[in-house]
Amino acid sequence: MSTLVIIGAQWGDEAKGKMVDVLGSEAELVVRYSGGNNAGHTVIRDGETFKFHLVPAGILHTEVTSILGGGMAICPKSLLEELEQTRKQQPELGRLIISPAAHVVFPYHKLLDQLEESARGDNKIGTTSRGIGPMYTDKVQRVGIRMGEFVRPDVFKERLKTVVEFKNRLIQLLGGEPIEFEPLFEEYSQYAAQLAPYVVDTESELQDAVQAGKQVLFEGAQGTFLDLDHGTYPYVTSSHPTAGGACLGTGVGPRDIHHALGVAKAYTTRVGEGPFPTELDNEIGQQIRDQGHEYGTTTGRPRRCGWLDLAALKASCRINSLSGLILTRIDVLSGVGDIKVCTGYKLNGELLKGLPYTTADWAACEAVYETLPGWSGDISGSRSREDLPQTAQDFVSFVEDFCGVKSAILSVGPDRKETIFCDRSLLWG
Ligand code: IMP
Repeated sequence: MSTLVIIGAQWGDEAKGKMVDVLGSEAELVVRYSGGNNAGHTVIRDGETFKFHLVPAGILHTEVTSILGGGMAICPKSLLEELEQTRKQQPELGRLIISPAAHVVFPYHKLLDQLEESARGDNKIGTTSRGIGPMYTDKVQRVGIRMGEFVRPDVFKERLKTVVEFKNRLIQLLGGEPIEFEPLFEEYSQYAAQLAPYVVDTESELQDAVQAGKQVLFEGAQGTFLDLDHGTYPYVTSSHPTAGGACLGTGVGPRDIHHALGVAKAYTTRVGEGPFPTELDNEIGQQIRDQGHEYGTTTGRPRRCGWLDLAALKASCRINSLSGLILTRIDVLSGVGDIKVCTGYKLNGELLKGLPYTTADWAACEAVYETLPGWSGDISGSRSREDLPQTAQDFVSFVEDFCGVKSAILSVGPDRKETIFCDRSLLWG
């Protein structure tokens, strides 16, 4: 009887989808709280691959209610397409409900995302082009359209008209073609009609579930260092993927989140631009990319690969007040030889206490490494910590000791079977 938030402890793509699928079967509610279809979660079950962007991975469990929380950015067209695709693969899905406070992503957001990226030139962020940044800009600017307004035709028409006029001025300023109001309104009204039955008072339902002691899983998207405040600004997303975001994006208070688990790969990846001190722009980086199939679920872009950054992971444990770690993709490091882990950064010859704050300092800092012996062979059949090669066990212990946080789960392959539960008390207990 407790609540649990699972967050990405690095720069996203830490294999959270698999973990939410594994733990989602033990929850009564699974809640997404930030971001939109910039996220990509892959779930592999009995050889079949499910790809999620907006829909919580919990939807595959028919007994579970999935919630899209108020902190989210929802593209109605993508959501409907994703639901249709998922139903084709698995006709019976769990119940889905959407918060009226979630904001809607429109085509002008996507267009502005692309125009703004082009305008940035060499300083581009490398966004997913899903319109996420421009939508959250509207939210902060207080001109966004929320799901609760979107599904009320009279209100929606009025609001959209005003916003489109305003947006078209901006689009033209950036050299784009203005959006026509009528066809946009007609197309999106159809989506609104289809989504209206899903839009209910999710906050009350969630509050009741928490008060009744039901097991609720908050599913983070992206990762800690893509957080608008705690990430490598400005190379971040525009929402709060950290554990604190679960409160902001759902209306559940901090004392009602009982456990926080951080998912981290045994190495580091990042997509898009931005600082990455442990990046391996060499053969080992390519070997990790090949062995880990490190290509984006959302954009297909090759992910940048590098050694595990423990200095960043330790900061992530603090920012998210992690009660446990989920170390994933340990199998991918098999055969790479000795393994390096970054234990700190040096800037101008001085060891930093925390992480750099500015892009210039990130670029100038140097990773300090410790080298650990690697392992080889197929370890995906390991079902307990003791089944792992001794050097892999030592690697896990090193990470835990450095971060001061124990592992709840280890993952040694993409399938849900390829999971080692180390300490169940760190989950719901
Ligand atoms: P945006 O979220 O599309 O605005 O992109 C901002 C930055 O976050 C870019 O570097 C993206 O590559 C990165 N990003 C956004 N969503 C994800 C994700 O789910 N996984 C990894 N990186 C992401």
